[in-house]
Amino acid sequence: MADQAHNRTNEGMPQLRRQGSATQLIVDGSPFLVLGGELRNSSSSSIEYMQPIWQRMRDLNINTVLTPVSWELIEPTEGGFDFALVDDLLRDARSHDLRLIVLWFGSWKNGMSSYIPLWVKQDIGRFPRVQLHTGEVIEVLSTVAEANWQADARAFAALMQHIAEVDGNHHTVIMVQVENEVGLLGDTRDHSEAANRAYAGPVPQALLAYLQAHRAELVPEIRQRWEAAGAKTSGSWEDVFGAGPVTDEIFMAWNYARYLDNVAAAGKAAYALPMFVNAWLSNPEGTPGDWPSGGPLPHVMDIWLAGTAQIDMLTPDIYQPNFAAWCQKYTQRGNTLFIPEMHPNQVGARNVFYAIGQHDAIGTSPFAVDSLELPEQTPLSKSYAVLQQLAPVILAHQGSRATAGFLLDSEQPSVIYQLGGYELEISLDEIFGYKADIGYGLIIATGSDTFIGAGSGFRVAFRPGTSGAALVGIGAVDEGEYRAGQWLAGRRLNGDENDQGRCWRFSNQGIAIERCTVYRCA
Ligand code: DGJ
Repeated sequence: MADQAHNRTNEGMPQLRRQGSATQLIVDGSPFLVLGGELRNSSSSSIEYMQPIWQRMRDLNINTVLTPVSWELIEPTEGGFDFALVDDLLRDARSHDLRLIVLWFGSWKNGMSSYIPLWVKQDIGRFPRVQLHTGEVIEVLSTVAEANWQADARAFAALMQHIAEVDGNHHTVIMVQVENEVGLLGDTRDHSEAANRAYAGPVPQALLAYLQAHRAELVPEIRQRWEAAGAKTSGSWEDVFGAGPVTDEIFMAWNYARYLDNVAAAGKAAYALPMFVNAWLSNPEGTPGDWPSGGPLPHVMDIWLAGTAQIDMLTPDIYQPNFAAWCQKYTQRGNTLFIPEMHPNQVGARNVFYAIGQHDAIGTSPFAVDSLELPEQTPLSKSYAVLQQLAPVILAHQGSRATAGFLLDSEQPSVIYQLGGYELEISLDEIFGYKADIGYGLIIATGSDTFIGAGSGFRVAFRPGTSGAALVGIGAVDEGEYRAGQWLAGRRLNGDENDQGRCWRFSNQGIAIERCTVYRCA
């Protein structure tokens, strides 16, 4: 049933808002931390299949489910829309007190076009495909065909219009991912006739104007490429960026960005929820086409920023080991961090602390969470239980540089942060000769001389920092929990539990929340 009183721009509708140096997701008027999980690709295509999954999401302490909604299922015949599945997903999410992020499987998913409806698949004349440099035409929609994005945009707009009508006052759907891991696999660029014409033609003025206006801040890869070719303000793609696979990727990035922005614009005109795109990450040994060429990767970030006005975030799917480095790359150029896919295992359960603690992430969303056995016993469930308790404190301090997140191991056994006017040395925990292999967590300077920390396997030594004090000592450490945002202290941790007063410790036996007060003597 439609929300009669629905108002597209009502106050409580999900939106992004700045707080200090951070961008927050605001839902029903308050900041919201996405403790999310993405379903496997096919789970939400059957509402029956989903039945046992909803409770599993609750057992994982997830508050938001990333669920695919596919073009083929909502528009099986041209102009014939069917939103019954969407309505059922909304109903069941609400009854389990879960929010949704809709993942639009439209023109592309993992670079391929497998989710386009059959009537699009079958009509290669009307909906042109990519051609490889070998001449082979592949089953992937071409970015340079207007009919392609027009058809996708019509379907996406219909979906967003429907969500506006049935959810505009509920706000069960809080964000939308537009397409999935776009980019061309198997070649550096599209070599169809239309694509070759566009490639030989002039670089659009909008992109050139952007490069000139942002020259000093461009990501190094784009700035160097453009300047090495003479920082030209007009010319063909090869005039402006030089020849080669890197330029092919830049060309593809522009065309994907423009296509997705057109799709997003049509959706936002119907219902302006925050929208983001995600990336299959590159690797230093390969070339574009080994990863989807033209996807929203950090080294082409400025091309995406220049080409999109309706996409609010570029987001990484981080399965690679260097999690922290990828998070850092995705905070360049003022981009807000959200991680729509990452490992759902023990590694992911540690990394969520880092993304949220160190980079003010809007949230995290490990992939394939519906396949986790015994959900309530998983590391992810335990991490999210702690982050759920801490969410009000985390959100209150986002954007004020009062929070640090860290991942410690034998390669990086300690880090030093300046927080709350002190210097904090955070290192792998060690007591009576036993050293933790892994440490992770976050620390928030919540008030004068007061810190809240959460995590496992680390210890914190305080130093005067800029305070000018002669001595800094630990006043008291308490373990505890937050109930409805209120701190409830448990044990007073002293003796072995704070190494006889030397430091603030988090043992590696589980994940704890602790509060520490420090004192200083002049
Ligand atoms: C990344 C994709 O975005 C997901 O949809 C899924 O295919 C995973 N890879 C598989 O690991």
